[in-house]
Amino acid sequence: MNPYADQQVPDYNFHIPKKYTYPLPVTIFSVTAAGLLYFLLQESQPIAAGISGGIIVLAGGVYVGTFAILKRITNLERRLQGRDKLLNEIPWQGNETVLDVGCGNGILTMGAAKRLTTGKVIGIDIWTEGSGDNRPETFQENAKAEGVADQVSLQNEDVRQLPYDDDSFDVIISGLTVHHLGFDTEKGMGEMIRVLKPGGRLAIYDEPSTVFYSAKLMRKNGLQVEKKVMDMVFGIKSDIRH
Ligand SMILES: C[S@@+](CC[C@H](N)C(=O)[O-])C[C@H]1O[C@@H](n2cnc3c(N)ncnc32)[C@H](O)[C@@H]1O
Repeated sequence: MNPYADQQVPDYNFHIPKKYTYPLPVTIFSVTAAGLLYFLLQESQPIAAGISGGIIVLAGGVYVGTFAILKRITNLERRLQGRDKLLNEIPWQGNETVLDVGCGNGILTMGAAKRLTTGKVIGIDIWTEGSGDNRPETFQENAKAEGVADQVSLQNEDVRQLPYDDDSFDVIISGLTVHHLGFDTEKGMGEMIRVLKPGGRLAIYDEPSTVFYSAKLMRKNGLQVEKKVMDMVFGIKSDIRH
């Protein structure tokens, strides 16, 4: 009998949007289509044949490249390493009030909760389509599986309009969410900074261009950027109260 049969295991997997999961058929299609086009047009219109064949191959390449990037970003082992690297940079006291923005299934939420004694973590999410099959039920199951259900709570809130008072949280963390904000990135970052306490820490884990832009917005909003590496940025809000 398996002694671990009734032991719950947290599920932090998330999946690449289905439309990006056909790299092989797309490669075969684009190479075949480009070759056929070139073969048919090379004598009558050689320049048009070259250009259109090139565009088809390029489009196929962009698709396969996007698949490769998404596969890398969603890799669970890599995300667990990223999670620990991010959380280990924060000098925890154990009594912090923490906000995890775009918590999804709670990979960062539970990691933060495990570093607390009396503190609490609120995870917020709006469960957008195509952001990795995250579900509130999975968040709750993961909280139980990790033994932190009493320390975490889940709220359906949008980072672009947070319902919390100014200066509410000691630590705000966010993993692979800021890049979803698009044109509203400045608004969302502004809200995170508004609800962060003076002296509090904001830590963001995302792809490099988002990290670069987040660091810029932190500085613009008066935060001191404490550390910035390729996929993470850490900021501290000034502890001078306005
Ligand atoms: C790629 S998932 C990352 C989930 C989790 N942080 C992780 O690393 O596994 C991004 C999450 O951000 C959420 N999200 C997107 N826009 C949001 C917004 N405006 N406010 C709150 N959450 C948002 C999505 O619903 C999704 O669950």
